[in-house]
Amino acid sequence: MYNSRIAGLGHYVPENVVTNDDLTRLMDTSDEWIQERTGIRERRWIDPKTSEDTTSIMGAKAAKIAMERAGVTKDDIDFIVFATLSPDMYFPGGGVRVQDLLDMPTIGALDVRNQCSGFIYALSVGDQFIKTGMYKNVLVIGSENHSGGLDKTTRGRGVTVIFGDGAGAAVLTREEDPTKGILSTHLHSEGKHAAELALEGPSTGRWVDAIIADDDPNETSYYPYMNGQFVFKNAVVRFSEVIMEGLVQNELGKEDINLLVPHQANLRISQFVQKKFGLSDDQVYNNIMRYGNTTAASIPIALTEAWEEGKVKEGDTIVLAAFGSGFTWASAIIKW
Ligand SMILES: CC(C)(COP(=O)(O)OP(=O)(O)OC[C@H]1O[C@@H](n2cnc3c(N)ncnc32)[C@H](O)[C@@H]1OP(=O)(O)O)[C@@H](O)C(=O)NCCC(=O)NCCS
Repeated sequence: MYNSRIAGLGHYVPENVVTNDDLTRLMDTSDEWIQERTGIRERRWIDPKTSEDTTSIMGAKAAKIAMERAGVTKDDIDFIVFATLSPDMYFPGGGVRVQDLLDMPTIGALDVRNQCSGFIYALSVGDQFIKTGMYKNVLVIGSENHSGGLDKTTRGRGVTVIFGDGAGAAVLTREEDPTKGILSTHLHSEGKHAAELALEGPSTGRWVDAIIADDDPNETSYYPYMNGQFVFKNAVVRFSEVIMEGLVQNELGKEDINLLVPHQANLRISQFVQKKFGLSDDQVYNNIMRYGNTTAASIPIALTEAWEEGKVKEGDTIVLAAFGSGFTWASAIIKW
């Protein structure tokens, strides 16, 4: 039985910066409201007039950097796991597009649909394939193009101000030392709350034909819906639970955490978790201020930046944790 470790990380965000003030020109909102409730100052949104970026293209760009840093080529990768809630197409998923964009051999590509927890779920899938010995190098990607599908009017402000575009990627590689790398992952779901953070249509529950036939100017089923306060209350509980579960399984205490990289849902959620675990500012990495919530991309973007800033060092205990639509939540305990 092998272990897996992250051998290389990369991220990519679109050039176009959208500040909170920019949003006030689209909807009734304010920099003060957004910063106070979420911590977000700006986010990146693909500008379709100047950029050809898509979810898959951003994912491929991030993957290229991760592969270079891992010292592997496209021919070394055995499998792709691609997490997104905003694929370029309804089907097929983003993984096969990355295989093509990076001119890879005809390796397998799997898409993961677990929204904000998507990257940890994807990491866990890659980890299992390596632990069983089936694959040696797995490319794990989280990428989102939210901006193309948000209601950019006052009607959508409760959701739209939060989300940003971007991608992050990790190369997972075989590790012979069982005390190093991904020690454990913890995955959960509670589908009874699916409707509390969801995009209903187009889907088999809300076919395009039905949406068009209704011709309803108030139709919102193709925009994301979020019951913000309910999501917030569940998030703080589940984040804490799933971090604790990972620590307990590995016989670690709060004091053993060198760095917590939480999914960047809302700065207030991260601060709540930080306080609960008694962590200092240096022990929690946040970049939601600059990128908003990039869903499946948020953890790999944050982890990449933390690594680039020298905050992830050999021997460190790194904790990843996420919560989101589904509801789903997850954690990973990593010995770097
Ligand atoms: C979304 C969130 C920031 C909203 O904050 P909140 O304090 O719950 O605010 P509410 O939704 O109760 O809205 C309060 C008021 O602000 C208004 N409002 C909503 N969005 C606004 C915006 N962008 N700008 C200005 N006002 C806004 C609401 O209309 C409401 O007005 P009313 O009191 O006159 O009805 C907060 O609930 C949250 O962060 N939830 C978790 C979201 C999350 O993490 N999602 C991702 C999970 S992965």
